[in-house]
Amino acid sequence: MACAVVAARCISSTAVVRMMTPSYCVTLKDVQEAQRRIQGFVHSTPVMTCSSLDALAARKLFFKCELLQKTGSFKIRGAINAVKSLRSDKCTAVVTHSSGNHGQALALAAQIMGIPAYVVVPSTAAACKKSAILGYGALVVDCEPTDESRAEVAANTVQKTGGVLIHPNQDPAVIAGQGTIGFEIVQQVPGLEALVIPVGGGGMLAGIAVAVKAIKPNVKIYAAEPLNADDCYRSKTSGILTANLQPPITIADGVKTSIGPNTWPIIRDLVDEVFVVTEDEIKNATLLIWERMKLLIEPTAGLGLAAVLSSRFQEKTGGAQNIGVVLCGGNVDLSSIDWIRESSPSSS
Ligand SMILES: Cc1ncc(COP(=O)(O)O)c(C=O)c1O
Repeated sequence: MACAVVAARCISSTAVVRMMTPSYCVTLKDVQEAQRRIQGFVHSTPVMTCSSLDALAARKLFFKCELLQKTGSFKIRGAINAVKSLRSDKCTAVVTHSSGNHGQALALAAQIMGIPAYVVVPSTAAACKKSAILGYGALVVDCEPTDESRAEVAANTVQKTGGVLIHPNQDPAVIAGQGTIGFEIVQQVPGLEALVIPVGGGGMLAGIAVAVKAIKPNVKIYAAEPLNADDCYRSKTSGILTANLQPPITIADGVKTSIGPNTWPIIRDLVDEVFVVTEDEIKNATLLIWERMKLLIEPTAGLGLAAVLSSRFQEKTGGAQNIGVVLCGGNVDLSSIDWIRESSPSSS
């Protein structure tokens, strides 16, 4: 991936000053190339609106429906871009350690490109997740439910198979692929003023930020994250990359990961604000989208609406009226839903 070191000329009466812009692992050109690479392999997902949610938020909301994407989440964008970017003569297999949406997406991407995928999955992962990965043709490699075991088993699998490890959120090709969401939504919503994006490892947030800030610099980029997994908020507040100290406990299971060394510089510089929300706010927003929009999002995808409805969002975002919200996925483990009885947005 090219690094952006740009010499800019600031003409003063006496001097031409050379300024350095920071170098990121992904540039606008990378996202443009990703868009060409993934075309025909992924859906251009619809943007939907809902007048009752507009009324609640006192804004016009535009929901980018990545839950209707292939494999049920945006992750297929990055996975296809990463697999297609590999030199086919050199690449014998791909490997990852994600029992969630990236695991399924990489499995399908590898199947499409005709190479084997090995997905390292903790022994505690839900049976439905394992069977989805197997259903897309990947081989499941079991590991213990610890970060150390995941990393070790993935490294061994790379050694044994000669495969390439595709990181779920720090791989530049994955980040560039996720950035294509940004191109689509700015075309679909011409008057867009701000975009709210859930953040875990930050691949989606960083990719979209690179794409949108390059073509529409006035569009604000906001991150949404659970209070219980607030590494991105703490990193932005302190100016120092800060990981979650212990495994977070949150219903938004897609964003338990911390942002990393590749996504952090982009988030630090291009993301305007991070909004943290409570577990109750996430549940409430998820149920609202189920009930009012009839869209079966997973709780992680409720983060954006939860942020928009929070009082801090109202205070911080002034008069912006047209707000995009990324509904990032719809892979709900229906058997795990036992929290509905306690949360009822209809009564709020
Ligand atoms: C549905 C969903 N939303 C958001 C995320 C977070 O994406 P990222 O790690 O790129 O921030 C994930 C990650 O797995 C996810 O599955």
